[in-house]
Amino acid sequence: MKEGVSPTDKRNLILAFESSCDETSVAVIEDGHKILSNIVATQIKSHQRFGGVVPEVASRHHIEEVTLCIADALSEAQVGYDDLDAVAVTYGPGLVGALLIGVTAAKTVAFAHNLPLIPVNHMAGHIYAARYVEPIEFPAMALLVSGGHTELVYMPAENEFEIIGETRDDAAGEAYDKVGRVMGVNYPAGKTVDEWAHQGHDTFKFPRAMEKDDNFDFSFSGLKSAFINTTHHADQIGEKLNKQDLSASFQQAVVDVLAEKTQRALADYPVNQLILAGGVAANQGLRERLERDLSSNPTTHLVKAPLKLCGDNAAMIGAFAYVAFKHGVFADATLNADPSLEFDWVADPVK
Ligand code: KG4
Ligand code: ZN
Repeated sequence: MKEGVSPTDKRNLILAFESSCDETSVAVIEDGHKILSNIVATQIKSHQRFGGVVPEVASRHHIEEVTLCIADALSEAQVGYDDLDAVAVTYGPGLVGALLIGVTAAKTVAFAHNLPLIPVNHMAGHIYAARYVEPIEFPAMALLVSGGHTELVYMPAENEFEIIGETRDDAAGEAYDKVGRVMGVNYPAGKTVDEWAHQGHDTFKFPRAMEKDDNFDFSFSGLKSAFINTTHHADQIGEKLNKQDLSASFQQAVVDVLAEKTQRALADYPVNQLILAGGVAANQGLRERLERDLSSNPTTHLVKAPLKLCGDNAAMIGAFAYVAFKHGVFADATLNADPSLEFDWVADPVK
């Protein structure tokens, strides 16, 4: 495995891997901002009957899919191993067994073809999906909303991440999936609840936890409980509630809190860009609300991750990997999966 190399003037091709949860993905990325291929094999159907991701099932699928994804990614990009400059992989946070498959595959390719190996934090990858819209201008702020995380991340520079606020309990996506389940929606429920929300009205007035608190943290478990209590109570008295109105009311509460906290963060941290990223960044209600809020902001402009790159994919991993490549962040063959990887590692190479 080569170490200590850096990007050159010719095009730099990175083979990127993502396998932290229920998507096996391999991409070929040129210079961190051009997608030559981005193969995503989703396992959602296998997990739906269990109502959520089953880690053992996820690992098994990753093993089956990863070599096929590599072959497809190289063939679609019309490149061979000899054309590559580096290999990159998500090594955390995520499901340990799932991460291990990507890490092992990436290490194997790097070793076999004498390529440097770049370790990537999954959350940094989510933020860098925005790089496919336009270059990121620093300082920037990211509202990172996914199935496992809800964070406001301040980025003074391209490889520096400071979490200034995060959820104290459930992640936004997790709350969507749970209330969706109560309404009989298959996992992952976010997209359907979002669609229903657009057909209904905020009639239930659910609580907006911590909306006015003097910090940038979030809490969604109270909202989830209020939702579940409302539906259970209706069930007990034989009342049928309108799912569209329930969805609209839930979504309005989530969006209000996310938008309010983001505005406060922007007031304290002046930035050039607000980046909206993560699986929940696909939410139309949230996208529209932030567009409205930011339209009158003279200094900060909104960069929304492309809809196709909001969910887990290897293209976003390749985008951040290019930054790590420039900063000489490499791993050797001892790289291991780190299921609870923190965000503050990126400034330094992995020891
Ligand atoms: O980032 P992601 O693909 O996986 C994680 O790293 O967690 O996010 C998946 C989450 C799921 O909870 C899913 O329900 C949610 O993103 N999601 C949405 C929407 N599309 C996906 N939530 C709200 N509105 C959507 N349109
Ligand atoms: Zn993710």
